[in-house]
Amino acid sequence: MNQMWLWFLNRGTGVVLLGLMTLTVVLGIWTTTGRAGRGMPRFVTQQLHRNLSLVSAVLLVVHVAAAVLDSYVTIDWVDAIVPFIGSYKPLWLGFGTLALDLIAVTIVTSLLRHRMNERLWRGLHLLSYGAWGVSVVHGLGIGTDALAPWSWWVTVLCVAAVAIAWTIRFVGGWVQGAKA
Ligand code: HEM
Repeated sequence: MNQMWLWFLNRGTGVVLLGLMTLTVVLGIWTTTGRAGRGMPRFVTQQLHRNLSLVSAVLLVVHVAAAVLDSYVTIDWVDAIVPFIGSYKPLWLGFGTLALDLIAVTIVTSLLRHRMNERLWRGLHLLSYGAWGVSVVHGLGIGTDALAPWSWWVTVLCVAAVAIAWTIRFVGGWVQGAKA
């Protein structure tokens, strides 16, 4: 199928996906800070974190399907699963594929969390930072709109949101530890 709407769908879902993943990561960081529970109960933030990650997974399937079904460029299903082997912009596409694989690991292990060793689960869950990071690189490298001012701002805001959440978590935790 070579239809413009598939290309628009791929680009549109890509940008929304980056925003949703950023929100998921920020909420995930927030639930681990001492501030979670203030203003909004911790279980609400945790539930929101989980549900957003599942919505992102559905959107990711749509994003990938649109890229594969659009025959203007050749991207096979296997290129969406095995990183860096495709013929179309293999490096930039590969970062998206890597993000998909890492997200798959974090979602599957989260669904199996009750059967897993907590430390192992936590270690694997840290891969979600990697997934978010490589998807930022993917969007910047492959996106038609990546350098358009609005798109650039979306990326800058996403990176700033995660950087701020991280700083609050680690500097806040460090200050609390110093006071104790
Ligand atoms: C979590 C994983 C992913 C995220 C967050 C993501 C996000 C994005 C973003 C932000 C763009 C730029 C849209 C634009 O500015 O035009 C994009 C483009 C694109 N993505 Fe992904 N992506 C992910 C995974 C994948 C995967 C696994 C594939 C493999 C099929 C893929 C295929 C594409 C393609 C082909 C484009 C280029 C669209 C164009 O021509 O502009 N993405 N993606």
